[in-house]
Amino acid sequence: MSAAGDTATAVDFCGIALAHPVINASGTFDAIAARRAFGDALIERFPFAAFVSKTVTVAPRQGNPPPRLWELPAGLMNSIGLPNKGLEGYLALDLPELAALPVPLIVNVMGFSRDEVATLVSAFAGRDEVAALELNVSCPNVETGMVMGADPGEIGRLMSAVRPLTDKPLIVKLTPNASDVPAVALAAEREGADAVSLINTIRGMALDPRTGEPWLGGTTGGVSGSAVRAIALAQVRSVSDAVDIPIIGMGGVSRGRHAGELIAAGATLVAVGTESFRDPSAGARIASELALAVDAPHHSGWGPRGR
Ligand SMILES: Cc1cc2nc3c(=O)[nH]c(=O)nc-3n(C[C@H](O)[C@H](O)[C@H](O)COP(=O)(O)O)c2cc1C
Repeated sequence: MSAAGDTATAVDFCGIALAHPVINASGTFDAIAARRAFGDALIERFPFAAFVSKTVTVAPRQGNPPPRLWELPAGLMNSIGLPNKGLEGYLALDLPELAALPVPLIVNVMGFSRDEVATLVSAFAGRDEVAALELNVSCPNVETGMVMGADPGEIGRLMSAVRPLTDKPLIVKLTPNASDVPAVALAAEREGADAVSLINTIRGMALDPRTGEPWLGGTTGGVSGSAVRAIALAQVRSVSDAVDIPIIGMGGVSRGRHAGELIAAGATLVAVGTESFRDPSAGARIASELALAVDAPHHSGWGPRGR
């Protein structure tokens, strides 16, 4: 499917017109590297209806020491550690290239304090190239020690601090490593979030079989891929019961049927992550499979969830 898409699959997400409901999950598709590898073919047949950039932090980050990946029987565990050029580097080097993509750009940001998140949101507020911001709240607030996305009070205070700083849609990317994810989603909605996205990776660990010590340089890592799909489905469903704002569902999607299931559970958009490492054009394939399933006259299953 081309980026222009098929009008039957077009979707409005927070006022952003998208050709179809399949986007990428942050950090799992490097559009700049892919363009270098595939050239204009990537632009002509961009696999996603919007592009979500890898997490940007205020200061540049090296990421975690290696090893950074551990393969699971049905998924992947990573401790990449959010390497990035930092805000200034992103604005100067990445943003001009990403703005040339044929689809709307969603910038994913993460701060280690409310002030840092405010700095990031303000920096993108006036950028016409940016359609929306996704707030990655899976890290601890250095001021309180609490993971921002794990606590409804933390997320409420964060949203009330940053909501006034921009008119752009703010998407809160929820962490599954929380005791009450719907409560966090509801707090985000009450303080002005336009959408929520879930799930981020689930904390896990692997031991080096030779030493019995943690394999990953970051000690623990984030589990993604098929292994987390049932968890994603359950969390999307419970968040959908709690909020009225749109949901971006993700976690283990590798086929149109999986995307359709997340939509049936309450998602408006579906993001593809780990599967893109195996198949860089997975987004386009999944969007086509989803469109075929939705269009099939005999199909009685996956419509959007009636709420
Ligand atoms: C290698 C890798 C890097 C990731 N980097 C980020 C990131 O920079 N920011 C973020 O919010 N999520 C990041 N994620 C999480 C994904 O966006 C997504 O929430 C998660 O992997 C679940 O989707 P999946 O099972 O389809 O991969 C990363 C995941 C992987 C596997």
